[in-house]
Amino acid sequence: MKLFSNMFIKNNILYFGGKNTLELAKKYATPLYLIDGNYIKQQYGIFKKSMEHPFIEPEIIYASKALSTKAIYEIMNQLEASIDVVSGGELYTALESGFPPEKIYFHGNNKSPKEIMFALDKKVGTFVVDNLMELEFLAGLNRQINILLRINPGIKAQTHHYVQTALESSKFGISLSSQDFPSAIQCIINNKNLILRGFHCHIGSQIHSVLPFIKAAKILLDATRDLKIEHGIELETLNIGGGFGIYYNPTDETLAVDFLSEIINFVGNYVKENKLKIKKLMIEPGRSLVGPAGMTLYEVGFIKETPGLKKYVFIDGGMTDNIRPTLYQSIHEACVISKMKTQARYSYTIAGKCCESGDELIQDILLPKVQTGDFIGVSNTGAYNYSMASNYNRIPRPAMVLIENKEDRIIIRRETYEDLISKDI
Ligand code: LLP
Repeated sequence: MKLFSNMFIKNNILYFGGKNTLELAKKYATPLYLIDGNYIKQQYGIFKKSMEHPFIEPEIIYASKALSTKAIYEIMNQLEASIDVVSGGELYTALESGFPPEKIYFHGNNKSPKEIMFALDKKVGTFVVDNLMELEFLAGLNRQINILLRINPGIKAQTHHYVQTALESSKFGISLSSQDFPSAIQCIINNKNLILRGFHCHIGSQIHSVLPFIKAAKILLDATRDLKIEHGIELETLNIGGGFGIYYNPTDETLAVDFLSEIINFVGNYVKENKLKIKKLMIEPGRSLVGPAGMTLYEVGFIKETPGLKKYVFIDGGMTDNIRPTLYQSIHEACVISKMKTQARYSYTIAGKCCESGDELIQDILLPKVQTGDFIGVSNTGAYNYSMASNYNRIPRPAMVLIENKEDRIIIRRETYEDLISKDI
């Protein structure tokens, strides 16, 4: 398992965020999500720094679907970041944490009238409008609303097809070649209560190359320039979404920090050459802010060998707390947290406890000899693990512990059996 800057080994034990993971596993029980708050803050700082530019101001909008909890919104607030939400539930959580509504961007391809009214009543700063019907609905409300218009730039990013979001056939955004685009512009021109701040796109997730981002930015910039030429409307911002890939395994190489400056420089040069009024470039990182800040601890239960084939290590969690390997065939790395210096000589498949053959967290991983009672640590689980967790097989969801400045505290308590039946009538 690759060790990140917030991990080290002492006496054969893995330390994470400065804390002894074996002690944490015993103190809080397993499965257990760990989140390193300092790592998130550091990552945010690195993003900000790599986007410094003489006349384009960066705005980092945390895509909170990656991990939506009150404590994480509090961290984002401390950082003075903006956030995006995609549902009434995420919005409610953010507001309950005290997050300022004016710095919230409301996304979603099918916001319900109830969600829209909730967001307006709470004075949410900006709506990211996904389609023409939504735009017309907002126009009909006769309220002053800041909007970004989500464009589908028709780009196929190299990533799992479930997380490609900008194919022409995608459900998200308005395609520039469709009749909906000129109709949307006309709707905005006719309704002075809709304040168009800029165009938005999001091309997909876990992308490791700068090229599709540059391509997408160019398409949005061309549309911004054409809007000025054809209608005399000047836009102030551009939002190129999130999707910056992180390290899960050695096939994941280039990271966002390597190319964010290239993107902002490209935008800056275009703005200058075409005399546009764009002053701000927004990005919406989710995974890249919180993914590497998280890891999950599990306890090993039974171990089983299938004759001549596979050796299974069964853990006390699985697809209910990390659906990613099952859903996207993603490959995470893992270790035995108390045998960090012991040679990894045995091949195991780490499987969960769900009644489902697909519930295999990691296949054919080399580890030191594993025994019942050992603890397994899986790295890079901060994003889309807790937020996609389920109660399949009526398994309670794990607790989450936040580590900050070498202090650890529960930010989500472990679910109980009573929680599981609390909504049954
Ligand atoms: N902005 C928009 C409009 C999005 O739809 C998303 C993610 C993001 C930003 C943040 O993307 P990120 O920086 O986190 O890649 N559950 C999947 C990922 C789904 C991403 C959905 N949209 C996974 O576990 O890989």
